[in-house]
Amino acid sequence: MLKKNEQAKTSWLENNLPHSNRFDDTYYTRTDGRGETNHVYIQGNELPHRWMNCSHCVIAELGFGTGLNFLETARQWIEKKPVNATLDFISFEQFPLDADEIRRAISPWIELEELARILCQNWQTNRDKFEMEFPGDIRLKVNFGDANILLPSHELFADAWYLDGFSPSKNPEMWNENLMREIYKSTKSGGTFATYSVAGVVRRNLQTAGFETERAKGFGSKREMLTGCKQNKVTIPKPG
Ligand SMILES: C[S@@+](CC[C@H](N)C(=O)[O-])C[C@H]1O[C@@H](n2cnc3c(N)ncnc32)[C@H](O)[C@@H]1O
Repeated sequence: MLKKNEQAKTSWLENNLPHSNRFDDTYYTRTDGRGETNHVYIQGNELPHRWMNCSHCVIAELGFGTGLNFLETARQWIEKKPVNATLDFISFEQFPLDADEIRRAISPWIELEELARILCQNWQTNRDKFEMEFPGDIRLKVNFGDANILLPSHELFADAWYLDGFSPSKNPEMWNENLMREIYKSTKSGGTFATYSVAGVVRRNLQTAGFETERAKGFGSKREMLTGCKQNKVTIPKPG
């Protein structure tokens, strides 16, 4: 079904770093966006280790943005995944960038060029959701709209969540208590989350929702980040 989604309002900083004029915040860190994705989201959820024994992994994300988190996750998954294992990556995005903006934002990373090319060739935002398959048994689904509205009616059980709204002071709707409860409901038992933010309100809302939270070393100049788990951490089931 065709739909008019609200456009992101973007300006560009040094090294093709996109800045949201709507939220007055950057999409990723100035120093090294790809390094931040690896440190905060991929290592923060201990994914490479958990992938070793998995047959199917579900990663969910708040805020698709430039697709950097997805593309770096896909790149590492293709390198590390067990044979026949599949990855579902499900994201929620209210103000999608267009293909040219994604291409430009990912251009600093030659390692992501091929996956970004496949994404941008197919990327469409004039509907409820975007779905496509990638090499490496990866299925991407991006749901367009406000995560607060979409998630409650979404049947989803994630092994790992990437909580990547803009800063809580600028984008509080992405971190509110109700949404954190929905995240908790949409996490498998033993599933995890990771986020760059250690703001008190974020930690409290995730704890109130039911997560056990832990501070970890942050990326670059950020002293801390936050990870957490729904009950006891378990490994993702083995094939067969
Ligand atoms: C920090 S950026 C995400 C960066 C992204 N993960 C990446 O890899 O480039 C935050 C994103 O959240 C989106 N967003 C803000 N409020 C939202 C909401 N209520 N529901 C869904 N998406 C939202 C913004 O449009 C933006 O793309």
